[in-house]
Amino acid sequence: MNKNDIKKRIEFLKRKIQELNHYYYIENKPQISDFEYDLLVNELETLEKRFPEFASIDSPTQKVGSDLQKGNFRQVNHKYPMLSLGNTYSFEELKEFDARIKKNIGIDFKYTVELKLDGTSISLRYLKGVFVQAVTRGDGVKGDDVTENVKTIKSIPEKLSGNAYPDDFEMRGEIIMPHNVFERLNKERERKGEQSFANPRNAAAGSLKLIDSSEVMKRQLDCYLYYMLGDNLPGNSHFDNLNKAREWGFKVPEQIKRVDNIEDVFEYINYWEVERHNLDYDIDGIVIKVDDLQLQEKLGLTSKSPRWAIAYKFKAEQVETVLLSVDYQVGRTGAITPVGNLKPVQLAGTRVKRASLHNADQIKLLDLRINDYVFIEKGGEIIPKIVGVNLDKRPFNAEKIKFIDKCPECDTLLIRKEGEAKHFCPNEWACPPQIIGKISHFISRKAMNIKGGEATVRQLFNAGLINTFADLYYLRKEDVLKLDRFAEKSADNLLASIEQSKNTPWERIIYGLGIRYVGETVAKIIAKHYKSIDDLVNANYEELAGIDEVGEVIAKSIVEYFSDEKNIRNIELLKNAGVKMFNDNIDEQTVEKKLNGLKIVISGSFEQFSREELKKMIEKYGGKNQSSVSRSTNYLLAGNKTGPSKLAKAEKLGVRIISESDFIKLIKD
Ligand code: IVH
Repeated sequence: MNKNDIKKRIEFLKRKIQELNHYYYIENKPQISDFEYDLLVNELETLEKRFPEFASIDSPTQKVGSDLQKGNFRQVNHKYPMLSLGNTYSFEELKEFDARIKKNIGIDFKYTVELKLDGTSISLRYLKGVFVQAVTRGDGVKGDDVTENVKTIKSIPEKLSGNAYPDDFEMRGEIIMPHNVFERLNKERERKGEQSFANPRNAAAGSLKLIDSSEVMKRQLDCYLYYMLGDNLPGNSHFDNLNKAREWGFKVPEQIKRVDNIEDVFEYINYWEVERHNLDYDIDGIVIKVDDLQLQEKLGLTSKSPRWAIAYKFKAEQVETVLLSVDYQVGRTGAITPVGNLKPVQLAGTRVKRASLHNADQIKLLDLRINDYVFIEKGGEIIPKIVGVNLDKRPFNAEKIKFIDKCPECDTLLIRKEGEAKHFCPNEWACPPQIIGKISHFISRKAMNIKGGEATVRQLFNAGLINTFADLYYLRKEDVLKLDRFAEKSADNLLASIEQSKNTPWERIIYGLGIRYVGETVAKIIAKHYKSIDDLVNANYEELAGIDEVGEVIAKSIVEYFSDEKNIRNIELLKNAGVKMFNDNIDEQTVEKKLNGLKIVISGSFEQFSREELKKMIEKYGGKNQSSVSRSTNYLLAGNKTGPSKLAKAEKLGVRIISESDFIKLIKD
């Protein structure tokens, strides 16, 4: 690289890191893995060291990433700067750190080793034992005053125990979100159609910056303390001071340990590298600190981090391979997901050939090109993801990826809705993977539980036998028999399974319809509010949005679904086929016997329920079914085409004639 190229690269890295900082610290949406980020910072540091003429004080290597949010919180100057930590991924560099320390202060010292909690840092100020202020790290010099929000964290003492604490001091630590809280929160967000948090760190950082502290309270944050600052601290040892802080009421991690040398540090790291998976919160490494405060002072600080401490960071299992091409998958909702085809490589025990690229923004952000060397990582999902590019290895034939503008399956022009990261194929009713996806969802175990799976759906669709899930109920055995892999028995099994599905519980039918954002949990909530498909089809936006846990996004999606004629037609077909689209699984014990002792005659055919269903309902609510009208009859439940003689008799005997909707009112009101 010539000097001009180096200058350009430095400028690129500065811009990129600043942008990534913004996403990480302000938006709480990290764009790449920590490892990949640290690689970029490392590269910039190395270049700035080698070419000091291009170094500048505005470089992100010279200051801590800022979490300051303009406007929402009062900004407060830190009495002591709030620094970051230098970090490393290798034992080699830890040895160099140890050697540097020894060179400066000799060999007579101890380290305190601690877990590196993966949350967001906070400084808590105590005056005469009373909690007075909480400030975020901000830009290291000044931070956001989030006192009211921090007051909602139960483990932070408002008043300290004993009286041995300094008059005015700060405790610094990490605000975290425990795993169980994180999982609950994300499930709830998914239910409400809100974007879920990528990890507990983002959830904790995002929660701390909420405007409404009663909302923060619901997030159940926790706080561990790892650093005491102020005049007149109890002692000269960091470790001893933390133990004192614990006595005063602070939550200090019990895993902190004072050790004699760097070998003991390695042992601690090795232990926690494995054991960390048993903690109920995330840690992303180990922090190593010189224990003696006077020695700390002697070693001093840089503009960004103390020289007396370092973080060893755990590396997510990651490998490098080549991106060969990109395919585009169309999901059942029409969402397009780009998937990278890779030169096969071994990762965490499996051979990986494909990796998710999420969406067009992600490709742009990584500036990804075909033939690039990419880093892949295994996250929670089955398919690994591409988390970064090794720009140093970018080959000459690297080819920019042009995101498709037409559906790869049906050639329809793709759309991108406002506020959504994904492109969509709008050809909902004629795009094969969307049709197959919707039907496969409908028959899935958690929905209608029809045996067969996607392969059968594909086969039936390809043969032109089904186009929507409603068509399943009109399949004829002779047609199924014509298909490959189907013989007498398998065709019978399929049809029997379809027949059986007509009695699927109501909430699972709602789920099976595949309404966007209506997952299993929302379906259950809706099933409780709306007892039949007609109730649900007629529900309006305000009513739906008013249901606890439903909210605006889901309500809008439901209304949209039922405003599509084609969906309504499908529902009619399901109804006509005898699919039970109402709630009858009311617990016998809890049903109010609203028809107690009433004798009812059913005659004719009905809109919402079959005669059999109505008979069952009469019994369930304590009534009695009668076959013919007599003096003892209380009601004649008359549908279409009720026999005229029955009507006449009822009139003659003064028996009340009620319609299907009257009947539903009777049992509902
Ligand atoms: S000490 C001056 N100890 O890691 C030293 N930091 O990457 C101040 N962190 O900003 C930090 N666990 O938010 C320290 N046991 C620990 C920590 C810890 C997590 C965070 C902290 C800091 C960041 C640096």
